[in-house]
This record gives sequence, structure tokens and C-alpha cells, in this order.
Amino acid sequence: MGFLSAAILSVAALATAASVPNSKMKRQVSQLRSDYDFVIVGAGTSGLTVADRLSAAFPSKTVLVIEYGNIHFAPGVFDPPTNWMEGIPNPPPSWTFSSLPNPDMNNQTAFVMAGQVVGGSSATNGQFFDRGSRFDYDAWLDVGGLEFAAKSIKWDWNGILPYFKKSVTFTEPSQAVAQQYNYTWDVSAYGGTTPIYSSYATFQWGDQHILGEVWKEMGLNPQAECAGGDKEGICWVPASQHPLTGRRSHAALGHYADVLPRSNYDLLVQHQVVRVVYPNGPKHHGPPLVEVRSLADDHLFNVTVTGEVVISAGAFHTPTILQRSGIGPASFLASAGISLVVDLPGVGSNLQDHGGPPVTWNYTQPYIFDHLPDELANNATYKSEAIAAFDDTPSHGPYTIAMGNSAIYVSLPHMTPTWCTIVQRIRQIALTPGLAASYLPEDIRTSPSMVAGYIAQLLTLAQHFSNPAFPSLETPWATSVAPASAVSFLLHPLSRGTVRLNLASPLDQPILDYRSGSNPVDIDIQLAQVRFLRGVLDTPTMQGYGASEIAPGAAVAADDALLEEYVRSQSFLSFQHPCCTAAMMPRSRGGVVGVDLKVYGAEGLRVADMSVSPLLVGSHTSSTAYAIGEKAADIIIQAWS
Ligand SMILES: Cc1cc2nc3c(=O)[nH]c(=O)nc-3n(C[C@H](O)[C@H](O)[C@H](O)COP(=O)(O)OP(=O)(O)OC[C@H]3O[C@@H](n4cnc5c(N)ncnc54)[C@H](O)[C@@H]3O)c2cc1C
Ligand SMILES: *[C@@H]1O[C@H](CO)[C@@H](O)[C@H](O)[C@H]1NC(C)=O
Ligand SMILES: *[C@@H]1O[C@H](CO)[C@@H](O)[C@H](O)[C@H]1NC(C)=O
Ligand SMILES: *[C@@H]1O[C@H](CO)[C@@H](O)[C@H](O)[C@H]1NC(C)=O
Ligand SMILES: *[C@@H]1O[C@H](CO)[C@@H](O)[C@H](O)[C@H]1NC(C)=O
Ligand SMILES: *[C@@H]1O[C@H](CO)[C@@H](O)[C@H](O)[C@H]1NC(C)=O
Repeated sequence: MGFLSAAILSVAALATAASVPNSKMKRQVSQLRSDYDFVIVGAGTSGLTVADRLSAAFPSKTVLVIEYGNIHFAPGVFDPPTNWMEGIPNPPPSWTFSSLPNPDMNNQTAFVMAGQVVGGSSATNGQFFDRGSRFDYDAWLDVGGLEFAAKSIKWDWNGILPYFKKSVTFTEPSQAVAQQYNYTWDVSAYGGTTPIYSSYATFQWGDQHILGEVWKEMGLNPQAECAGGDKEGICWVPASQHPLTGRRSHAALGHYADVLPRSNYDLLVQHQVVRVVYPNGPKHHGPPLVEVRSLADDHLFNVTVTGEVVISAGAFHTPTILQRSGIGPASFLASAGISLVVDLPGVGSNLQDHGGPPVTWNYTQPYIFDHLPDELANNATYKSEAIAAFDDTPSHGPYTIAMGNSAIYVSLPHMTPTWCTIVQRIRQIALTPGLAASYLPEDIRTSPSMVAGYIAQLLTLAQHFSNPAFPSLETPWATSVAPASAVSFLLHPLSRGTVRLNLASPLDQPILDYRSGSNPVDIDIQLAQVRFLRGVLDTPTMQGYGASEIAPGAAVAADDALLEEYVRSQSFLSFQHPCCTAAMMPRSRGGVVGVDLKVYGAEGLRVADMSVSPLLVGSHTSSTAYAIGEKAADIIIQAWS
């Protein structure tokens, strides 16, 4: 993109952001039309993508998006006057959850957030904008078995790549910036013009390159572009930010404010979708009614839909809406006193998220670089200069980096000589009668479809884990300021959790049971990952700085039992990437939606958000949520054209 067109786009983006609230936004039921062709539940990352595409494709059909949160165009938690090193003192609206204790992780609870705002989690996230590897999406097809192989709609890498490309506008860094940091990229991974921006910061911390050198010393190879399907090795990762303003780019701008006015596109804020209702029960023909609650006065009303309903409320809330609608595990719904509409044991089951422990160290040799993150906290002049630089056009300086722009992604065969044993153990769990089932959540353990689906997932993952190009560890980094840490992301957890309505208060937040570590192979893989990451300390670069390990430490690492205890007690249980709670898998394998994203056994109802991912991808999840929204929209547009 030329400088001039970027400048015009950015002015447009800021102007529309400033001019909200606008006439398209509704706050009262009285402002709504009598009925809508399409209702999208949740103005989040996927939901707003779908709403934008449908309202553009069908000017004579009406689209209503119903959102719990409010409109809030704050650039984000990582922009001035705060940044990621300074905590999150004033976040835009988010829900925060504490999971049930995890018995296999020393009873720790997972701390998780979810955006509760127009834009959803894209408006509150860390802006790290990677994609999974090709194998992550190929696995979505593999778990579908022969049934999905026979469908014309495919969600493998080739089937989703066009939507990744369409979903963002990538801007190349300037030559000067690229040379300064050695950024590499390949534009052939991109090509879209949607105003959701992917770009590189014009600033990196003074010590950013150190871990890059360390990874090379550990034998990892740089990948020139990691969004093109192949990402095993050392990666540069762009951020979801505007190339010129440095501000967060999110769904509420790119799929709402920037595409208005559009007379057929309405957004109702501060309303909770309670459930969908089929007035004639399971035999009902046509789309359901949508029952909505006003947060202002608790008033309940129904919205009439003539086309279809798309639920895009995110991995924690999509299953709550389905469960309140009588669509879910029959035994759970019976215990909740909710009449059964469709028995789908996968609703709110199959919960997965990234987690893992850190390896931490200090430096004993002088460690002096220009511009380390603590300068923002310790030097008021530097900080005010940094804020002025961020407000400059084009913006520059430390506030242009969100969570960082680099990470390693390492496969099991490149990480540990024991990879074969790990893969064998997964296969053995899958193939030993009753064993896989015994690791599933208790309330679905006896469901033949859930067990079949879990076995298919285990066999699919075992196969991919053997592939040296399939990353199973991620470690992001932006700076190695002391005490430094390399965090071990378990990219493909085998443990499965649940999201269930809180029966004491079903309209409130659901109960999250992460069940982290319940499949013991997750612990085996984490042991290998931590041992691999400790290799950081042995590299010439780290030795040169006298890097001194703080945790887990050589004594702990040398002892399996102690290291296991370290993993169980020191892991972060969520890196904020929940998924898979309304999985796209065959119904006979515990799936909730098919490849067309239609909810099995329910008419006029689809799901489009991170819930439909059957297996967690080896990536932060926002780019996948956008791509799901894009492909969902295309499927719906074809169905109604
Ligand atoms: C703190 C945090 C940091 C993250 N960091 C990164 C990162 O750096 N990089 C990355 O790629 N990903 C990151 N993620 C993950 C990523 O942002 C999400 O996976 C993705 O945005 C989810 O998209 P979604 O469409 O599934 O749901 P969301 O975008 O969360 O949208 C769901 C929407 O539904 C609304 N809603 C829920 N229930 C109801 C209801 N009953 N009625 C009406 N509306 C409802 C919500 O308010 C929300 O707006 C992060 C997430 C969080 C929370
Ligand atoms: C976890 O909590 C349970 C129930 O309170 C208790 O029985 C168990 O010993 C605890 N486990 C650990 C490791 O603390
Ligand atoms: C960039 O790469 C060159 C050539 O490999 C190297 O000399 C230089 O130190 C690198 N700079 C950074 C910041 O990594
Ligand atoms: C919505 O419609 C259903 C089915 O007709 C009905 O049972 C329910 O009471 C309605 N809800 C409201 C708030 O009117
Ligand atoms: C690490 O180094 C910092 C800065 O020198 C120091 O404050 C801290 O106590 C050290 N921590 C440990 C565990 O050695
Ligand atoms: C604080 O930052 C200013 C501006 O970058 C710089 O000139 C000054 O030397 C810094 N002060 C210290 C004590 O580092």
C-alpha cells in the first residue's frame, strides 16, 4: 500500500471511530424492525465478520447483530498510557473467569478473560497475529474421517487459506525498518483488502535480537514467512494494528464502523441473547426466534427471524446459549430442568486452551542496551516522548509494539529424542479399549459419539506429532529483560474440559472445568518442552551474559518427579485461547456442527466462532476467528443466493 492511500484509510478509520455512536446502533427494542432476515448473536471477531459480509452481499436483506457489551473504540489495553509491561490497569470491558480447581495441576484455577464489547476479544487481545500451520487445519479435515472427506466444503489448509488471505490487509514494513530489525515476510501469504490490518511495529526493544540469536544457536531455523502454512522454526509475527497509526485494528472498526453507513445493518448493544426458541419444539420448520434480555431493565422479548440465526458468542458463551435453548448433552439438560430440543453431548464439551510453565533466568554479566521496557516505567521523560511518538503520524516508538513480534514454533521430533515414545503412548491410549474414555469429562465418558470423536482426535494428533514440520511448542518473546522467561505453550493439548451452565444462575457466567493435565501425555510433552527450553541457558550468547537459571533449575530438571511437580504447580493454565466447545465434527463423533456450520438437528441455526474449531490450532486464535467468519459468510451467501 502506498503511503498516501494508507494515510487516507487511516483518517477514515479515525473519523468513523470518532463519530460513533451512530444511527445504526440501537439500544432499545422499540428501535428494531419487526423482523430480520439474519440475526448474528455476538458482535465479536467472527460475528462482525459474518454480519459485514452478509449485509454487503444482500442489500435488500436485513441483518441484526445483538451484543452483550457496549461500543468502545479504545485502541486497546496495550496502547498508551499503558503497555504490556505495565499490566492492564484499565482494560476495556472484559469478562474474567476463574475455572474450577484443576486436580491434576495442584488444584490451580485457570484465569481467563473474554471480550465483552463490540469487537469481542479482537478489541481486548494481545494483537499477536499469527496463523496456524497448514497441518493444524488439515487436522480439522482428518478428524472428520470419511464423512468430511466426502463433502464439497473443506476446512483443511487449502480450504481455509483463501479466507485467511481475504480477512486482512497486510502492509509491508519500510525497507529501513525491515533492515533495522531483520524483519522478513512474503506477500504471497496475504493479498486481501479488508480493513483489518496486519503490520509490523516500527520499534523493537534493544535486546529483542538476543533470543533470536539464542534460538539459532539451539539449531532452529528462521522461516521467512510463517503465515503461509509452514511455521516450524523462528518466526516474525505481525500484529493486528494499523500500519500508520500504530493503533489496534479490530472487528468493531474493520467490520462495523469502517463499513457504515449500510441501511440494512443494525447493531443492538447491551442486550443478552438468552436462547433460541423453536415455537413448535423439535418439529418446528424454519429458523428459531431469538429470546433477548435488556441489560438496562431485564425486559425479555423475542426477535423474529425469517432467514437464519448465526451464534458467534465465543467459546465460553456460544455453548451457554445452546444449552439454555435445550441443545446440548441430554443428561445435563435434564439435570438443569431444560426441555431437550437436540441431544448434542459435544455442546460445551471438548474445551481446549493453551497453557504451560515458564523457564526463567537472571543475568550476572552487564546487560546494557538502549531502550529496555523498564525505561517506560522509570523514566518519565522517555515515557512522555514515547506517547508523543505514538501520537505522531506515522506513529513510532515503544508504544507501537503490542505483545511483540516474534516466537519459535518447534515440532516434537525437533524438541526431544523421546518423541516416538510420546506418540506411541497417545496411540496406545486411543487403541486400548476404555482408556481414552476414562480421560474424558465424567458426564460425557459414556457417550459413544464423544468417545469416538476423542479417539479420532488422538489418532490425528499422534500422526501430526510425528511430523517434524508440525509445531507442538510455541515460545513468544519481545524482550529478555531480567528476570527473563521463555514460556512453554502446549500448542495441542490432549486434555478436554467443559463449559456448563451455572444451574444456580443460568443467565450468569458458565462454570469452566479446564481439566488441565487430565490426559497424562500433556504432562509428558510439557516435561520435554521445559527440558528443551532450558537449552537457552547453555547457548554461547546466554553464557556470555552469565545467564543464571531461576526456575525450574538444574536439580529439578534432572529429576522427573520434581520437574513434573514444577509443571503441575507453575503452569499458566490459560493463554486466553479457549476453543472447540461446539466442534465441527461428524455427529457420530460428538460434533455439534457440520462443515456447513449448521447445528445438527436444528433448523436455521449455525455457529461461527472459535467454538467450531474441533482441535486447538498451534497459533493465537484471532486470525482463525476472522477466517472462520469469512468462510462462514461465504457458505451462507451461497446458500441464500
Ligand atoms: C486477554 C486476551 C488476549 C488474547 N490475545 C490474543 C493475541 O494476542 N492474539 C490472538 O490472535 N488472539 C488472542 N486472543 C484470542 C482471540 O482474541 C480470540 O480467540 C478471538 O477473538 C475469539 O473470537 P470469537 O469470535 O470466537 O469470540 P469473541 O471475539 O470473544 O466474540 C464473542 C462476542 O459475543 C458476545 N456475547 C457473548 N455472549 C453473548 C450473549 N449471550 N448475547 C449477546 N452477546 C454475547 C461477547 O460480548 C463478544 O463480543 C486473546 C484473547 C483474550 C481474551
Ligand atoms: C485438591 O483438592 C482436593 C479436594 O479438596 C484434595 O482432595 C486434593 O488433595 C487436592 N490436591 C492437591 C494436590 O492439593
Ligand atoms: C540482522 O542481520 C545481519 C546479517 O545477518 C546481522 O549482522 C545483524 O546483527 C542483524 N540485526 C539484528 C538487529 O538482528
Ligand atoms: C418467545 O417465544 C416463545 C415461543 O413462542 C415463548 O414461549 C416465549 O415465552 C417468548 N418469550 C417472550 C419473552 O415473549
Ligand atoms: C534477578 O535479578 C533482579 C535484578 O538484579 C533481582 O532484583 C532479583 O532478585 C533476581 N532474582 C533472583 C531470583 O535471583
Ligand atoms: C530519560 O529519557 C530521556 C529521553 O529519552 C533521556 O534523554 C535521558 O537520558 C533518560 N534518563 C536516564 C536517567 O536514563
